[in-house]
Amino acid sequence: MDQIVIEGGRELSGEIPIAGAKNACLTLMPATLLTDQPLTLTNAPRLSDIRTMTELLRSLGAEVAALQDGQVLALSSHDLTSHHADYEIVRKMRASNLVLGPLLARFHRAEVSLPGGCAIGARPMDLHIEGLSALGAEIELRDGYLHAKAPGGLKGARFEMRFASVGATENIVMAATLAKGTTVLGNAAREPEIVDLVRCLRAMGAQIEGEGTGTITIEGVDALHGATHEVVTDRIELGTYMLAPAICGGEVECLGGRVELLESFCEKLDAAGVQVEQTPHGIKVARRNGRLSAVDVVTEPFPGFPTDLQAQMMALMCTADGVSVLEERIFENRFMHAPELARMGAQIEVHGGTARVTGVERLRGAPVMATDLRASVSLILAALGAEGETVVSRVYHLDRGYERVVRKLSAVGAKLSRVKDGGGDE
Ligand code: EPZ
Repeated sequence: MDQIVIEGGRELSGEIPIAGAKNACLTLMPATLLTDQPLTLTNAPRLSDIRTMTELLRSLGAEVAALQDGQVLALSSHDLTSHHADYEIVRKMRASNLVLGPLLARFHRAEVSLPGGCAIGARPMDLHIEGLSALGAEIELRDGYLHAKAPGGLKGARFEMRFASVGATENIVMAATLAKGTTVLGNAAREPEIVDLVRCLRAMGAQIEGEGTGTITIEGVDALHGATHEVVTDRIELGTYMLAPAICGGEVECLGGRVELLESFCEKLDAAGVQVEQTPHGIKVARRNGRLSAVDVVTEPFPGFPTDLQAQMMALMCTADGVSVLEERIFENRFMHAPELARMGAQIEVHGGTARVTGVERLRGAPVMATDLRASVSLILAALGAEGETVVSRVYHLDRGYERVVRKLSAVGAKLSRVKDGGGDE
């Protein structure tokens, strides 16, 4: 398995281009199942998760072509041959469950493997099931698969979500676009990736209002047509790279970044002593003079602090002045980066969903292991500011959500390289 070797202690300066959002693309791609016309996605990120979704859609009979070095995806679901999303693919990536709503809407049936748990939590699908059942789907769990059918098609309904689940919102909204009548989804997730999905669905002829608020209203239509849609900037990649100059010193401009994608995150950076400036081309970040201050963080659904930036923020807090308390409210097991950071000298006490970080002057490089996507990049961020060499192993986790990390960080002066054992494109 590949490793990434980092020599810490270098100030950064220059520009980092931010790619299209993984978590938008992973819901935009299954939207092709809603129409027999071509859907083209531009600004697509080049990631292993996108390749996994491509594999899944092709297994259903959809055509997916990656053009322009993978930055344009041309999709078509004119002739589907299957409505079975196999465990072998779904277990690799939970977002595979986003074919459930579209298959039900267009073909009135779907057979989707339960994703199973993953490193950060149990990841149940009860809200997806409840929401789609409210639209008239009959869903039975058998042999680890959700067997779903909607004889006569889905019907619009009112459904209030117990929790603002991102994936459940996406599945229900996509399904409702072709349901008969009106659907009103309450306590809907408000993430920018959902706003992006709705913009694409609207371009395909869907009638939807309220995206980005807690209530989304969908007027079902008979059919959707094709569209061309530009994937929104990845706010999680953006926030990740904003932390690099905050940890290392220097100044970096994250091209394509927009503060409104990450307001609560930017507020925390400002409180910690990081200079954040919106420019016409992106977001410029520099560490104000001296040591950063410890700040407390609670992860919440958008517009709260993103859970997908918690691990990276912890890396910043490891060398801040004072004690930072990070509370993880979205997932039940998302502190696996803590013991790895401790190997680098970080002082972190984890009690259930809360981590207490007591800042130290400086971390020291060490061999560490990536455990999940966001944990892996938090180790790289910590290593950039640490004294000496860090070797991060199991970096296949990184390839799921970050394209060309070595190239992007080297371009702003970081000293790191990938020791290849196959896989990963740098
Ligand atoms: C999406 O996952 C993202 N993935 C996650 O990003 C992100 O962390 C998460 O939203 C929260 O923002 C994609 O968009 C592909 P949820 P999703 O449904 O949709 C519980 C990354 O690093 N829940 O909002 O699975 C669930 O167990 C990934 O890019 C239920 O209980 O998140 C979790 O505790 C990681 N029942 C919480 O809600 C359900 O039916 C949030 O889940 C659904 C979810």
